[in-house]
Amino acid sequence: MQPLWRVSSTSTYPAVVINIITLFPGMFRGVFEESMIARACANNIVDIRMTALRDFGLGPHRVVDDSPYGGGGGMIIKPEPMAAAIESLPRRGRVILTTPRGALFRQDDALRLSREQVITILCGHYEGVDERVSELFVDEELSIGDYVLTGGEIPAMAMIDAIVRLVPGVLGKDTAITGDSHYNGLLEHPHYTRPTEFRGLSVPCVLMSGNHKDIQSWRERMALEKTREARPDLLKRTLAGKGSSGKEPKE
Ligand code: ADE
Repeated sequence: MQPLWRVSSTSTYPAVVINIITLFPGMFRGVFEESMIARACANNIVDIRMTALRDFGLGPHRVVDDSPYGGGGGMIIKPEPMAAAIESLPRRGRVILTTPRGALFRQDDALRLSREQVITILCGHYEGVDERVSELFVDEELSIGDYVLTGGEIPAMAMIDAIVRLVPGVLGKDTAITGDSHYNGLLEHPHYTRPTEFRGLSVPCVLMSGNHKDIQSWRERMALEKTREARPDLLKRTLAGKGSSGKEPKE
């Protein structure tokens, strides 16, 4: 089956294919058609393929959800439509389910997933997805934070944005991802641009000194200070050598 819509439609195979299975494909249009992601797709670096879960719903009403066994409120996405949607994909690669129950998605995960050729993101909705979908198809369950959204679409957009900007060729040559917040487990140092003075506040002299060594050490010091202030948890983890994934570093 053809995807419902694709952001790019060139015939040569792109570096990365991202399949999205969702009940609400329209939610993605604005974000994917007017951003760095749109450019990556236009340049055939990334291809985003949208599959509407509703197309795989059961019966004339295309039912995709049902009440939970054991009682409780809310509705659960049924396994049959999700399985059929996944099995309709020619290549599914690594399959990810967005859920608040998942492991926290961090910069390391974005980098790791930017190196996959094909990713499939299943957007959870309602109270969740029947557990058997996870057991049969899902490689990893990911969350974007310790709060509950109404569905997995916004988390999928956030993850895709973080992943796609790390695919080689997507950002301009002048944009160094090595300076990003979270790249080395710290938050980024502050930035300044012209004018040198704004409403009584000046740009730190060191940044205008032309001394690259001094600038670098100022930036390192400020990054540490910012991280200590805003994210002491992150600093602790970084000093313990766990990087930005929260997982132990690999040998
Ligand atoms: N679905 C609802 N809330 C979510 C979250 N925080 N992360 C990922 N998927 C979600």
